Amino acid sequence: MVPRKIDCIVGARPNFVKIAPILRAFRDRPELRLRLVHTGQHYDAAMDAVFFEELGIPDPDINLEVGSGTGTEQTARIMLKLEPELLAYRPDLVLVVGDVNSTMAAALVAAKLRIPIAHVEAGLRSFDRAMPEEINRIVTDRLADLLFVTESAAIDNLLKEGVSGSIKFVGNVMIDSIRACLDRAVSPRTTLSEHGASADFIDGAESGFGLVTLHRPSNVDDPVTLEALVGALADVSRAVRLVFPVHPRTRTMIVAAGLQQLLDDGRIVTTPPLSYLRALGLLRAAKLVITDSGGVQEETTALGVPCLTVRHNTERPVTVEQGTNTLVGTLPATIVREVEDILAGRGKRGGIPPLWDGDAALRIASDVCAFLGVEPRTTSHLAHLPAGESAPHQAAQERRERVEGGE
Ligand code: UD1
Repeated sequence: MVPRKIDCIVGARPNFVKIAPILRAFRDRPELRLRLVHTGQHYDAAMDAVFFEELGIPDPDINLEVGSGTGTEQTARIMLKLEPELLAYRPDLVLVVGDVNSTMAAALVAAKLRIPIAHVEAGLRSFDRAMPEEINRIVTDRLADLLFVTESAAIDNLLKEGVSGSIKFVGNVMIDSIRACLDRAVSPRTTLSEHGASADFIDGAESGFGLVTLHRPSNVDDPVTLEALVGALADVSRAVRLVFPVHPRTRTMIVAAGLQQLLDDGRIVTTPPLSYLRALGLLRAAKLVITDSGGVQEETTALGVPCLTVRHNTERPVTVEQGTNTLVGTLPATIVREVEDILAGRGKRGGIPPLWDGDAALRIASDVCAFLGVEPRTTSHLAHLPAGESAPHQAAQERRERVEGGE
């Protein structure tokens, strides 16, 4: 049989965490030929190469090296550079993950060339089109043939939108990566000393610290909002030491707004973007996390760490309904009060959402094989699901059939 060709497209940091288990699940299959295409949306070693190394992702077969720019510039450059690659190679499927500009750009090119598309992490909606990712999600899902979802709300969203692709509830590949890497996570002590934290800070952090990540344009691009948030961090740090790995976008805005001195109070350590294993080590050990990231909302739920999301909405409602996540908005007084609650032992404990069990990539591989007419290697992993985990999957499928049947 002529091998079936799959192009996996990645571009930005969260994509790398998602693609690693998927590539593993497809490994050693002579019937499939996989190619990894990196758009180059993220290019700094700290946002890119170190993730490939730690997650065991092979070097990309192609790097389009599109670099930074506005969302439109990035999308356009990716489309112009990807089209000739797909035209020459003619893959049988293009697989995209997440909701970054690279995801949507690749889906558009594939759709124009009539190449089937699989979208991993489909159906998530914040219902906030001011968020660049929301546009990317809507467009990608509209074009995809296979829609792999992480939580049941995503199924409802896709059904309401009337997408034409086939919806598959497979769980969450982010959790596959956590499971694969947790025993290699770097200790907070090591990470903090690598980044010049004082002995005093490191010793103090042993008894508890908060982890902070902020990079959403809505939070960091407006100096007034950014000042309020950085001020809130300074207030919070009086109650608990904070570790703050700063995204390049956020670093630029903090410097431009002259806010750096607010972070220099001795109770906050800022670092450059951290590698996956370092971030995981901090996430696991943190008393609480303050973030505006989508992935971190999921990771904290998976690790049982209370998470305060500095946004008014989330496209990942299961992390609030079943996990450890609380939406706190951007008002400093609310953030400080919620932190105090957690420190007083009233943080959410949460549970693990259905199918967040480390096998999502295997399910995706089975479905992709079936779609391409290739015999799946084994489906025995599905039979091993504890009843409590397979039941919601079934319930969601049944609900979908009911909706499709017009009830
Ligand atoms: C992108 C994704 C976001 C994801 C985030 C993770 C979109 C719309 N956004 O946001 O969903 O959560 O990645 O980090 O795709 N920069 C560097 N080095 C790099 C990459 C970026 O310095 O390697 C700087 C540049 O100044 C660039 C800015 O960061 O302009 C923003 O990068 P960009 O890729 O446009 O978006 P992110 O904010 O990283």
